[in-house]
Amino acid sequence: MNVIRFSDLIAQGRVAGQRVFIRADLNVPQDDDGRITEDTRVRASVPCIQMALDAGAAVMVTSHLGRPTEGAFKPEDSLAPVAQRLGELLGRDVPLVADWVDGVDVKPGSVVLLENCRVNKGEKKNSEELARKMAALCDIFVHDAFGTAHRAEASTYGIAQYAKVACAGPLLAAEIDAITKALANPKRPLLAIVAGSKVSTKLTILQALSKNVDGLIVGGGIANTFMLAAGLKIGKSLAEPDLVSEAKAVIESMKARGAAVPIPVDVVTAKAFAADAPATVKDAADVADDDLILDIGPKTAEILAQQLKAAGTIVERPGGRLRVRRLRQGHRDGGQGHQREQRLQHRRRRRHPGGHRQVRREGGLHLHRRRRLPRSAGRQDAARVRDPAEARCRLKQA
Ligand code: 3PG
Repeated sequence: MNVIRFSDLIAQGRVAGQRVFIRADLNVPQDDDGRITEDTRVRASVPCIQMALDAGAAVMVTSHLGRPTEGAFKPEDSLAPVAQRLGELLGRDVPLVADWVDGVDVKPGSVVLLENCRVNKGEKKNSEELARKMAALCDIFVHDAFGTAHRAEASTYGIAQYAKVACAGPLLAAEIDAITKALANPKRPLLAIVAGSKVSTKLTILQALSKNVDGLIVGGGIANTFMLAAGLKIGKSLAEPDLVSEAKAVIESMKARGAAVPIPVDVVTAKAFAADAPATVKDAADVADDDLILDIGPKTAEILAQQLKAAGTIVERPGGRLRVRRLRQGHRDGGQGHQREQRLQHRRRRRHPGGHRQVRREGGLHLHRRRRLPRSAGRQDAARVRDPAEARCRLKQA
């Protein structure tokens, strides 16, 4: 794929003295006191920022954190802990700038962190007015937020349309290179894992992958939609019934190539998404009208584990965390692990109202997806991601 790279602009001497706006993904997990519990994403953002500083640019960095309400900034939405960690990693002061859309004062050779871009009105809906204002802040826009690259928001998409120059940062470019290489000549079987709450935001990716991969493992609300497409009942679980025909088309296109979308054969259900709701493992065909599917069942976990073990290449798509190890452990102990997990989520939700909204909206997860709350997810990232450049798209060439 041909992309303009920030490194090329630097090599061409086009960055010195320029105002550079870097969209990073600094959406990190934090504990109850707002301390970052896992800083992979902050560390992964450093090469791009350092490159810009070394090239003599005036550097502005921004990111979202969680899913705040636009126009209603709350202290827990603040990137202040990130500014501090970034400062430690860069070995310099990183001032945090609030209300930055109409102008930012930053000098060449300096860096500032612009407060949570998702509190700006119009960010999520990719408002043209907001995107133009952000583009006007800079000479060069650098997209280095691979974890958020699937979202067409003002700071990821709109700004790239209106900036004088838009390019890919080193993290994004490395991910594109890695996925291009893996998909061009993969060791087979090639498996892809795509999780998240909605098919609608991943449809083009699912369609593209379905033409190439040997197995397409779906998780989260996406899996529920695929279960519907396979003719199964999902009770009250999160899904997009409008997208069932698209999901069917993906299944059919995979089948036509002798490939498959594994549909769960068993699931963990509860009657409510609550810490004290008893979890029940049942066959996928037995889901009742008032059930919420909260997880895959042990038989499905085993099937997926075997497929993953046999895979030559695994592509994990951003937008979800695969937590097979944890889920299988939960099932081995008769679902107590799952209930423990629910209790933990309940405690975290009480402490983090933002997290609560997230969990509720994404109820019905097979492969749990976390926002800024989970220490465990952070730990798992640290264990799985050896190279920060692989922070979002993990490719395992066996
Ligand atoms: C993530 O954590 O998956 C990314 O930062 C994207 O976050 P979002 O799903 O809230 O856009």
